[in-house]
Amino acid sequence: MRLLITGGSGFLGQALARRLARPGAEIVLFDPLPPAAEFPGTRWVEGDVADCAAVATAIAQLQPEAIVHLAALLTDAAASDPVAATRVNCLGTAVVLTEANRQRVRRVVAASSLAALGSPPSVYGATKAFGDQLAAALRSEGNTEIVGVRFGWVYGPGRARGWNVLQDLIEGFASEQAVVPYPAFREPVDWTYLDDAVSALCWCLELPSPAPALLTVQGDRRPVTAAVGYLQALVPTVQPAPYPATLPPAGWQVAGDFLGTTTLEEGLWRTVAAIRQACGLPPLAAPAPQRLGRRTDD
Ligand SMILES: NC(=O)c1ccc[n+]([C@@H]2O[C@H](COP(=O)([O-])OP(=O)(O)OC[C@H]3O[C@@H](n4cnc5c(N)ncnc54)[C@H](O)[C@@H]3O)[C@@H](O)[C@H]2O)c1
Repeated sequence: MRLLITGGSGFLGQALARRLARPGAEIVLFDPLPPAAEFPGTRWVEGDVADCAAVATAIAQLQPEAIVHLAALLTDAAASDPVAATRVNCLGTAVVLTEANRQRVRRVVAASSLAALGSPPSVYGATKAFGDQLAAALRSEGNTEIVGVRFGWVYGPGRARGWNVLQDLIEGFASEQAVVPYPAFREPVDWTYLDDAVSALCWCLELPSPAPALLTVQGDRRPVTAAVGYLQALVPTVQPAPYPATLPPAGWQVAGDFLGTTTLEEGLWRTVAAIRQACGLPPLAAPAPQRLGRRTDD
């Protein structure tokens, strides 16, 4: 398998590389930052998606069967530097899609977001909406099949960037902070566990042609209070401290095409366990949820 992953050193890129890595694979992680881990058959190529020549060279050298385009500046970085976000998320997407098409790459799976839906109220959402529109425009007449994949909120061990208030909640409990503030959103949040997000990307790579142009990934849609209640049961010494907050507008209720199978409880248990292990804290006393891999709304 020859696969180019733009943004391959990031949260999703590293998890996808870990899933697909095997001796003999040729998986290139195209990213300005080095990956935290090396896997069999993967290698890092330092590069910038907005640099046409660098992207063209990476594709020409690897001749990938497919590209997974994950490179982006996320919500917080986009808000603080809209010009940089437009460069990476819009120009970068244009470069990757155009160059893939020119070099006849079979398929590009491009990450999008529920934040792109409607009239995006954020710089990040606006750049993601542009990517969706551009993909739709290029797909109809190109050599490359472009499959957009929209995620809600993806969490799990190793998430470091973007909209992180809920990751901070999980990490606060995992590391046994005395008091953990959390936003008391009234609406349900789409909790997509990292493994499900990776499965969705693999599914998009494997779909027979013609593949749909844009697919939505749905996690376990549950209120924040459900997460806090379960985290309290896992780590009872922590004091949760709610503060009033409004969930950022996005297409949180859009029906999913790909349904994650990890329950909120299982995802939280795994995330907390991994964070504690990484910090050298003792394993959780509470057992893993019994219905592993089953959704509560099945
Ligand atoms: N994590 C989520 O909750 C979520 C939700 C919806 C959509 N997405 C989308 O999924 C994709 C991956 O998200 P993530 O959580 O892994 O983010 P991340 O920030 O962890 O990873 C993004 C990677 O892109 C790289 N990058 C930045 N600028 C680049 C450039 N100019 N050229 C090449 N690479 C560059 C970064 O170094 C980073 O490694 C993004 O497109 C994001 O918009 C993520």
